[in-house]
Amino acid sequence: MVALSLHSTIAIVGAGTMGAGIAQVAAQAGHSVLLMDQQLATASTALQRLRQGLDRQVARNRLSQTEATAILSRITPTDQLQSLAGCVLVIEAIIENIAAKQQVIEQLMDICGPDCIYASNTSSIPIAQIAAGLKYPGQVAGLHFFNPAQVMKLVEVISQTQTDSNLASKLKDTMQQWGKVAVFASDTPGFIVNRIARPFYAEALRMATENLAEYAVLDQIMRQGGGFRMGPFELMDLIGLDVNHAVTQLVTTGLSLPMFEISSLQQQFLDAGHLGKKTGRGFYDYADSSSPARSSVSVTPASVQVDMVISADLGWLQPLAQRLLDSGHRTVSVVEQGFLQLAGVSITPHLGAPLPSHAGPTIALDLAFDYGLCKSLACQRSDSCSKLQLKTVWDAFATMGIELVELPNQPGLPVTRTLAMLANVAADAVQRQVCTVSDADLAMRFGVNYPLGPLAWADQVGLEWLLTTLNNLALHVDQNRYTPCDWIRQLHQSGAGFYDHYPDH
Ligand SMILES: NC(=O)c1ccc[n+]([C@@H]2O[C@H](COP(=O)([O-])OP(=O)(O)OC[C@H]3O[C@@H](n4cnc5c(N)ncnc54)[C@H](O)[C@@H]3O)[C@@H](O)[C@H]2O)c1
Repeated sequence: MVALSLHSTIAIVGAGTMGAGIAQVAAQAGHSVLLMDQQLATASTALQRLRQGLDRQVARNRLSQTEATAILSRITPTDQLQSLAGCVLVIEAIIENIAAKQQVIEQLMDICGPDCIYASNTSSIPIAQIAAGLKYPGQVAGLHFFNPAQVMKLVEVISQTQTDSNLASKLKDTMQQWGKVAVFASDTPGFIVNRIARPFYAEALRMATENLAEYAVLDQIMRQGGGFRMGPFELMDLIGLDVNHAVTQLVTTGLSLPMFEISSLQQQFLDAGHLGKKTGRGFYDYADSSSPARSSVSVTPASVQVDMVISADLGWLQPLAQRLLDSGHRTVSVVEQGFLQLAGVSITPHLGAPLPSHAGPTIALDLAFDYGLCKSLACQRSDSCSKLQLKTVWDAFATMGIELVELPNQPGLPVTRTLAMLANVAADAVQRQVCTVSDADLAMRFGVNYPLGPLAWADQVGLEWLLTTLNNLALHVDQNRYTPCDWIRQLHQSGAGFYDHYPDH
């Protein structure tokens, strides 16, 4: 453990949204913290806001009054850069402007000297550009916290080419000591989270453009089938479409890879000034209330019984078959190969391709985060599957508390195509040494609350599923965008998963 001593003083420069939150995190760990802003009033108001937040924690019995008082007593607001002398770590969280950031760090280097660490919380400026031309470039790194910093566990630790070799480890250990989950990221656009998360929004925007379903339906499937805390449209409305778009632009233009693209649909909303919750209108209308009714289902279990033909091993559809059995459906025969049939309709996993016209009565199911628990599942049916047959299967699923949502028989159901692309983009990032396999997954779990890291999730479903799905999406939707990265092909050929053979995962 090489974490900074808890007896050392930490400085936070910029007492806005992020700086104030980071100050609380450091003080909560036990450090004395100097919270500096251009105006003393800004820093003092920030402390006031932190007090109110801590008071709420005390009222909810999450913190004792003594602890809250101690945390606040460790934070000193200031408007004097000179008072930061003696700090061992300065975290810069001022406005997103490279000249302003360089200027403040340059001044601080004269005040705090060559041994202090200068970390920037920038989301979009390359750390190497900030370090360029400064006196002690080896002492400059990135520490990317997520909003709200007091709540979100993740911190990305970014080294640039000149960063001293043991500095990143020191920062990582320090962040862990502060109760954070710290991951190493390369100094590339979007670092880890903002890069790997792009398909979560891009696939939703693309599906809406393809008229696959309404925003509320897609959000519901992603939440109740995919296990994500929020659907992509409600999340974009919350983040702000302009903010979300700026990150997409940063990653898309910065990386110039075909898997990233700017959505014309999002652009239309931006042009109309519909930026989300903050303007009263985004994908949803907030005119009457701050949050639109969330589309969510809990179907009333029906009392139907259908006959099932199943095989002994259904792979990842097994929990679903078990749930059907537990709901009282009757197995009429057991066959050899991976096969599930309900009332004469074959149930198959969707693999990114539409069901062919020659298929017998078939329903393809979207991927679920957990078939044993999900409440909503997107599906599509073959031409030969009648509405009545769909209704029978719908009723059978309703007995398990699952609502089947029929979407057109087009390539790519929501959770399937989103996970396939999240895993593709994550694998590509690992292949390009942006991060390790496990850091990619940790970043997505603790930076944006995904139920599971995309690479661990893809490993669970299998590389055969991933490669087939991406190849189908490339064939049927967009060759450039969905082409699997080389590493996925190589792993598939060797029969390995993401967590099997990659060094230092
Ligand atoms: N808001 C987010 O969700 C978020 C998330 C991660 C990273 N970031 C990054 O964190 C940084 C800060 O973002 P924010 O949202 O907290 O901004 P903010 O506008 O809320 O706060 C910035 C603060 O910096 C102060 N400031 C500006 N110039 C200064 C200077 N020269 N010296 C001292 N103080 C100065 C301002 O008075 C203001 O209080 C940015 O680099 C941003 O990219 C933001």
